[in-house]
Amino acid sequence: MKKNDYQILLTTLKSLIEDEVHTISLLANTTAIIKMTLPAISWVGFYLLQNKNLILGPFQGRVACNSIPLGRGVCGKSALSKQTIIVKDVHTFPDHIACDSASNSEIVIPIFIKETLYGVLDLDSTKFARFTKTDQIFLEEIAKEIGYFLEKINK
Ligand code: SME
Repeated sequence: MKKNDYQILLTTLKSLIEDEVHTISLLANTTAIIKMTLPAISWVGFYLLQNKNLILGPFQGRVACNSIPLGRGVCGKSALSKQTIIVKDVHTFPDHIACDSASNSEIVIPIFIKETLYGVLDLDSTKFARFTKTDQIFLEEIAKEIGYFLEKINK
C-alpha cells in the first residue's frame, strides 16, 4: 500500500519535472503531491540553506518557523550531518523545534545538488512513529530527483 503510494508519487513528480523550469513551482507542487498522496501527513515543506540558516520554502500545513540555524532542531541536525533523521516521538528529541504542537513524529531528508547541500525536506505527522525505513528510501529518491532537477536548470 505505502510502496504503491510512493510509486504514484514518484511517477507524478518525474512527469512534473520534465516540463518544469521554475524552482519555486516545482518545490510547491512537490509539497502538494506529497500531502495529497501520503496518508497522515500534517505538515510537509522545504527549508533552503542560505548562509548558515535554513529558510522556510514552499510548504503545506500550518504556519511554521521561518528560519532555523544550521545544527538546531531536527532540520538543522539533518542538514549539518547530511543524513536523513527519523524521529518516532518528537517530544523525546532534545532539540526538537515545535512549530506545530500537534506534531508527534517527523522525518527530515537532506537535498543535494551533486555533493552540495541545498536544503531539507521536512514531513510531520500527528501519529507517533509515522515514518519508517520505506518512507526514508522513497523520500530520499524524491530528494534525489529534486537534486537532478536543480542541477539540470542550473540553480
Ligand atoms: N520540527 C522541526 C522544525 C520545523 S517544523 O516541524 C515545520 C525541527 O525540529 O527542526
